[in-house]
Amino acid sequence: MSAPAVARPDTAQPAPATVTAPAGLDEVDRLLAGVLRRESEVLLEVGPELAAMARTATDLAGGGKRIRASFCLVGAEGAEGAPAAAAALEMFHLGALVHDDVMDRSDLRRGRPTAHQRFAADHRREGLVGDAAGHGDAVATLLGDLCFSWADDLLCEAISSAGERGRAAREVWQRMRTQTMAGQYLDLLAQARGAAPAELTSRVLRYKSASYTVEHPLVLGGSLAGGPAELLAGYAELGRGVGEAFQLRDDVLGVFGDSRTTGKPSLDDVREGKHTVLVAHAQERATVSQRRVLDRHLGDPDLDLAGLEAVRAVLTETGAVRRVEERIDVLTADAHDLLATLPVDPTVRAALSGLVDASAWRAA
Ligand code: IPE
Ligand code: IPE
Ligand code: MG
Ligand code: MG
Repeated sequence: MSAPAVARPDTAQPAPATVTAPAGLDEVDRLLAGVLRRESEVLLEVGPELAAMARTATDLAGGGKRIRASFCLVGAEGAEGAPAAAAALEMFHLGALVHDDVMDRSDLRRGRPTAHQRFAADHRREGLVGDAAGHGDAVATLLGDLCFSWADDLLCEAISSAGERGRAAREVWQRMRTQTMAGQYLDLLAQARGAAPAELTSRVLRYKSASYTVEHPLVLGGSLAGGPAELLAGYAELGRGVGEAFQLRDDVLGVFGDSRTTGKPSLDDVREGKHTVLVAHAQERATVSQRRVLDRHLGDPDLDLAGLEAVRAVLTETGAVRRVEERIDVLTADAHDLLATLPVDPTVRAALSGLVDASAWRAA
């Protein structure tokens, strides 16, 4: 099948930023692989039936952009335990993704079938009794739970010998865990209500993704490095803006992105009727006929490519895409201004600058 034609957003998009991987990222991958190998052995000791769970965790753990690990490593400036903390963030993220894909009924993640789809497919292939989709969801729930437990183990490893710094890092971790689940809950609630005021939409954005993607990883890293309160406050402020830009980009990619690049399905956000800032802007400015297009297609489980194209056109023609792009521009420029004032050494500043751009200007 050829790729659908994409209605281009109505602003010139800078080319996606390329960023040098921060030192320590290889170690993060080694730590993740080590935990997965060790825990897979534990699963397989219980019995060969657990092979699919072990395999799925290991397979899905590959392929992420490692943005959270990168922010953590840069913030940690080589502090002891930083790679383990960064690996903990990626493992936590994996658990959140596995559960999110169940909640959002998504089929593709990191260019691969999602966990619940794999387990449902096993159920069908083996001709088991009962509801295959329900079985897939239940097993993916367990797998996500395991990822969260393994993430906590990695965090313990990171902070075990860090004393007071470790205590500060643990507090960041605890807030992150609770806030992320709270954000996911607000997303579900907005979905269930069928409408979300702008205030709720921006709170969802902040807590379901922006905070755990940039703010908390950066502050976690800074805490492990024993950064002074002023620097940690600067990191938190930087992280809030960049996290918002990251998620706004995700919302644009969720409708306009190419699934071969994003590794996620391109129909899902519209099918789900996700209440993003992008959609809220379009609803605010839509004419009667544009509103009809949105009402017809947003949340339509049978949405096809023609419907997606119609929604893309409304998002562009109402100026919603331009507004989001302008907001990303402002957030990115503010982040660079703030970065220039932070008391960090030039290598940290340069690495953070690259990560800011990579969060805002990405195609995947
Ligand atoms: C996807 O995050 C989930 C969101 C919070 C939007 P990423 O885009 O960082 O996903 P990976 O880790 O690269 O797969
Ligand atoms: C994912 O949010 C957030 C978490 C996993 C906590 P979304 O549902 O908006 O992101 P994608 O598009 O599936 O990655
Ligand atoms: Mg999702
Ligand atoms: Mg979701």
